[in-house]
Amino acid sequence: SSTVYGGTYNLFAVTMKKMGISFTFVDPDCSDEELEAAFQPNTKAVFGETIANPALVILDIERFAKAAHAHGVPLIVDNTFATPINCRPFEWGADIVTHSTTKYMDGHDATVGGCIVDSGNFDWQAHADKFPGLTTPDDSYHGITYAERFGKEGAYITKATAQLMRDLGSTPAPMNAYLLNLGLETLALRMERHCQNAQKVAEFLNSHEKIAWVNYAGLEGNKYYERAKKYMPNGTCGVISFGVKGGRKAAEAFMAKLEQIIIATHVADARTCILHPASSTHRQMTDTELVAAGVGPDLVRLSVGIEYVDDIIADLAQALESI
Ligand SMILES: Cc1ncc(COP(=O)(O)O)c(C=O)c1O
Repeated sequence: SSTVYGGTYNLFAVTMKKMGISFTFVDPDCSDEELEAAFQPNTKAVFGETIANPALVILDIERFAKAAHAHGVPLIVDNTFATPINCRPFEWGADIVTHSTTKYMDGHDATVGGCIVDSGNFDWQAHADKFPGLTTPDDSYHGITYAERFGKEGAYITKATAQLMRDLGSTPAPMNAYLLNLGLETLALRMERHCQNAQKVAEFLNSHEKIAWVNYAGLEGNKYYERAKKYMPNGTCGVISFGVKGGRKAAEAFMAKLEQIIIATHVADARTCILHPASSTHRQMTDTELVAAGVGPDLVRLSVGIEYVDDIIADLAQALESI
């Protein structure tokens, strides 16, 4: 999907390209013909985000899974924003799920991490020619063939841990694993509150005269409202984007007046965080370049936390009042 998080986009388009792995990007809302045309004889997987950061596009997981399977490849879904509390991509056909655990799973900005979850559903052996790493002997691991030894239930994740984690070192330190586990214990409670708060904040912004537009799938009339209800009936996440009337200058002035909400590039945290890309992460770009990148000059990304919602709204209200 072309709307994946910028860091992931760079990993795919730049770093992995140098490793000889190329990616074809498609608009997640493209036509069936366009999606079909993106597959190539050497395609190995399809990748998208349940809720794209920061575009907040909701992936039609079932449709992408069907397309991937028709071409004998797995669908990998980054489920970071939705979390397993709000969306279970395996139930819609995804084969592998990834998470940046740095976000809601940790929830307190305490540790950086990521994880891979294998559904064990993808039949590697049925497409053996595409996946020699799983269907031919691994000399570095006793000469075993993962798909034969562990079946489809365990082949991929065993290779990931036994060979790649061993060789590349992507293992969390004990203290980080401990901190992540503390976060996971309250994830279900926090997600419920994030969604309740975000819904109220989105409704407040939507009816405010100084706000040009609001993007939150929980709002009726949002392009992804119906799709969100299908895949995430209990709510999507706490992240909202909106535009301040008056563009870059007005958004900057609004940000400067906030008192409680934290200005940070971090998202999906227990504390409410806010970012105006045009005056921070993307400030080197002109208004025209910003529009082309899908991050207009007026765009503000708000990650609604679990504080008392009236306090969050009060801070937004006083900052809007002052511009
Ligand atoms: C959807 C998504 N996936 C992956 C990442 C990368 O996460 P990390 O910084 O933990 O590597 C991010 C970070 O913002 C993200 O939003």
